[in-house]
Amino acid sequence: MSTLITKRDERTQPVRVVAGYAQTQVRNPREPLVSRPPTLSELTGPMDVAGRVRLLGGDIAGHGERQAIGQLMHLKLRVVDEDGAPVAGAVVEIWQANAAGRYIHPNDDDHAPPDPNFYGAARLLTDASGAFELRTVKPGAYPVPDSGGWWRPPHIHFSLFGKVWLSRLVTQMYFPGEPLNEQDRILNAVPDAAARERLVARFAPPTGEPRNALVFEHRIVLRGRAATPAQH
Ligand SMILES: [Fe+2]
Repeated sequence: MSTLITKRDERTQPVRVVAGYAQTQVRNPREPLVSRPPTLSELTGPMDVAGRVRLLGGDIAGHGERQAIGQLMHLKLRVVDEDGAPVAGAVVEIWQANAAGRYIHPNDDDHAPPDPNFYGAARLLTDASGAFELRTVKPGAYPVPDSGGWWRPPHIHFSLFGKVWLSRLVTQMYFPGEPLNEQDRILNAVPDAAARERLVARFAPPTGEPRNALVFEHRIVLRGRAATPAQH
């Protein structure tokens, strides 16, 4: 990933305080931001995330009697820069709800059952072509507590680390054709429709391959006019 620092694009990035999403009020500064030029070590200091963390496999759906409940899904993802060049060696962390819309997390309540065969997280490295693949199950939608009926559509969370401290993107991927996409307060916090569309994966018509799973393809673009918006 490049070390270029660009100004935040308010059209293609989510508004900071989202109506009906109470946490955004406390997660965002109330005062104007103070500009501080990044230091040389922040811009060039190698982080070697891949050498510091344990990579977890690209298959989190389980097998046989230990297979997770849900629609088997194969995710094919590519990470590219603003010129379409592959971003190799990026550490990508992934987390998602199970097929019933439940996370393994102490803060998740009991609106839906846990799946003992589904942990719901992975940590992968992009290959030379900027790609990685994940065998998983399609996540379920879930209601946001105390939100007046807001349900999150099915989505997958990503955190990408580049080669230096300042190259990081946290975002989410959505699924095409989901009615809940239209009313999701996080997805629709991005003002620009084309930028929102860049957060939605592409459905690949089933061919039985690989391993008879539903296939979704997605591209994460770092920086530039076609950058994938951040989603927290
Ligand atoms: Fe989520």
